[in-house]
Amino acid sequence: MMEKIAKLIEQAQSDIAASNTLAQINAVKVKYLGKSGELTQLLRGMKDLAPEDRPAAGKFVNQARDEITELTDKKSKELAQAETDEKMLKESIDITLDGNAVERGSLHPCTLVANEIVEIFTSMGFSIAQGPEIELDKFCFQMLNIPPDHPARDMQDTFYITDEALLRTHTSSVQARAMLKSKPPIRIVCPGKVYRPDDDATHSPMFQQIEGLVVDEKVTLCDLKGLLETFAQKLFDQKTKVRFRPSFFPFTEPSVEVDVTCSVCHGKGCRICKGTGWIEILGAGIVNPKVLENCGIDSKKYKGLAFGLGIERTTMIKYGIPDMRILFENDVRFLKEFK
Ligand code: DAH
Repeated sequence: MMEKIAKLIEQAQSDIAASNTLAQINAVKVKYLGKSGELTQLLRGMKDLAPEDRPAAGKFVNQARDEITELTDKKSKELAQAETDEKMLKESIDITLDGNAVERGSLHPCTLVANEIVEIFTSMGFSIAQGPEIELDKFCFQMLNIPPDHPARDMQDTFYITDEALLRTHTSSVQARAMLKSKPPIRIVCPGKVYRPDDDATHSPMFQQIEGLVVDEKVTLCDLKGLLETFAQKLFDQKTKVRFRPSFFPFTEPSVEVDVTCSVCHGKGCRICKGTGWIEILGAGIVNPKVLENCGIDSKKYKGLAFGLGIERTTMIKYGIPDMRILFENDVRFLKEFK
């Protein structure tokens, strides 16, 4: 019996040593320690021994079981570790390889300029107002003192949808909506898209404007000039000067075209300003009392100043861009310049 056990241990040791995978070592465990394993068989054979031999033989079998259990457990652990190591090695990432770079986008120059303009005015106490792009004739024209069939309509070619609805030709329509909705004092800027059937190097059928409106008890042309000068100096540079030229808009009286000194030559005259030293940037004026009355504001008590500027045009001036169409082509090489 003792001999048998000693042999079994020897055989188990060599089986364990020969196991190279977890599956193999598990099979060895079953072979010796399982229900019908060899050691279990030996234990069963104990009943055939002489009673006085049984305690010593039992002890020896138990020792053998402990030893085989310990050896198989140890080998199992080693093999499991080896398998994990191999898996880790296979799945490891080579961090020295170049990655696939994801390029970062950037804001469109017109968005940058629009944001900057809105920020300048909000820093001066203006709030932002918005209106619909599909607008009623009433808000786009009639309330702004441009009656149906009036020649002033020819100033702005228009995409009509029906007799009453159109694609707004200017953000001045938001003025009318704002005045109807709130009481003075009013101080708003209205950024947004506008539409006109024009298309050439300096016009696009869709472009963006920012409208400004102040309505209060004491508002003068001097306030308008001071406000626009501060704005131009913040947007271009501190030395920028502003000049007014007389003009006409049905919704303002008096009306002005506003020029700023050329940001390239500072007024000396260059190619950008066509030798004049000045560049036109916007239209403005004192709100026509008729417009105030149309919108339910007492024109004896309140006065208004208003202005409207084109974002694309301002972007072209600010960055010296000669052709507006480049702003709509979205050539990545051009857009990257503004990162
Ligand atoms: N709405 C005018 C346009 O699109 C721009 C404009 C001029 C707006 C004078 C104004 C203003 O508020 O007072 O050409």
